[in-house]
Amino acid sequence: MKFFIDTANLNEIAEAQALGVLDGVTTNPSLMAKEGITGAANILKHYVDICNIVDGDVSAEVIATDFEGMVQQGEELAALHPQIVVKLPMIAAGVKACKYFSDKGIRTNVTLVFSVGQALLAAKAGATYVSPFLGRLDDISTDGLGLIAEIRQVYDNYDFKTQILSASVRNTMHVINCAKIGSDVMTGPLSSITGLLKHPLTDSGLAQFLADYQKGNK
Ligand code: E4P
Repeated sequence: MKFFIDTANLNEIAEAQALGVLDGVTTNPSLMAKEGITGAANILKHYVDICNIVDGDVSAEVIATDFEGMVQQGEELAALHPQIVVKLPMIAAGVKACKYFSDKGIRTNVTLVFSVGQALLAAKAGATYVSPFLGRLDDISTDGLGLIAEIRQVYDNYDFKTQILSASVRNTMHVINCAKIGSDVMTGPLSSITGLLKHPLTDSGLAQFLADYQKGNK
């Protein structure tokens, strides 16, 4: 399973990249705003800065909600850097733009997916990635992981090449369960990746090994 980090924070991206397990980055307009990145020129520059830190795909989201606007913005984003993937919302214009970009060989990530039917449409339109938001479904007492499993089944039934990018991942158990289900990618905060390191028996075992070494090598 690929690990993407879901942030526009350059320090966090660099930290995840340095760990050696990062496969890409997802951003969205809210994450950009959180980092204080505003204005078209600054936003475009920030995408390039991210691409220069990470080896792998970087999702950059269009703001337009009409087909023509999505095509214009998506082409501008795709031209920024070879690692850019154009992120499109799951609305009719987004599906149409997804088909347009996939026919042109430009990679896409269809976002804000909350149902199997939406995931089926994204795959039919040739999306590179589909992003079901499992955390936001869990937030409203709906089974987010269940949705990922259903999408996996449908995609496998027809051998769709669209990769399932489990998004809105919030914690380490989300990551582990996505891996068990066979999600192709997960995207979450840095803590959902570094949290996988932690086990008290690792800490106590290492402390014991070091103490025993010290005793024998005074
Ligand atoms: C996906 O690409 C989104 O950026 C993201 O995963 C949303 O997560 P949130 O529900 O934690 O905002």
